[in-house]
Amino acid sequence: RQSARDAAAEAKTLDELKDAIEKFEGCALKKSASNTVFGTGNPEAKLVLVGEAPGAEEDRQGLPFVGPSGKLLDAMLRSIGLSREEVYITNILPWRPPGNRQPTTAETAVCEPFVRRHIELIAPKVVICLGGSSAKALMEEDRGITRLRGTWKELIFADGAKADLTAMFHPAYLLRTPEQKRLAWRDLRATAQKLS
Ligand code: URA
Repeated sequence: RQSARDAAAEAKTLDELKDAIEKFEGCALKKSASNTVFGTGNPEAKLVLVGEAPGAEEDRQGLPFVGPSGKLLDAMLRSIGLSREEVYITNILPWRPPGNRQPTTAETAVCEPFVRRHIELIAPKVVICLGGSSAKALMEEDRGITRLRGTWKELIFADGAKADLTAMFHPAYLLRTPEQKRLAWRDLRATAQKLS
């Protein structure tokens, strides 16, 4: 069985990568999911957002952030003058964990080469991790999202290209904890500055 690393490296286009993920048999979450949720948006975007994993609605439609958190995500993007069509949106995991439980670090680790290749093929200027699962994986940190949000790192790809990498609160968390929106909006403004 081919590893995610090898399958990801072989994919030369987004279509090939989507195909490789749909054929990948190394992640148990795939068995209980209805759809593979790849990504959506502008394949030449300057900004890529990486969430956690599909929820119920995303699993049904096969598209990321089409449920309640997606509505808030659209408002977050609008606050810095961007639309969903201008950016690119994906998740650290392409399959919904049963009952929307949080994915384990082992589960995210298995699929991580796919998301790294996914971002590399788009070659954006800035990457935002939405929430702790994606921040811990891509920022290679053990600290939680409360510590990681608002901090910046460099994301360095296998081909040597680089992007500015940051994290902010996940929209689903902001829906439950609206008093944290102030910090999220501050992080969005910092992102807009990096993009300008
Ligand atoms: N939450 C996520 O992290 N991703 C989605 O696509 C939907 C909800």
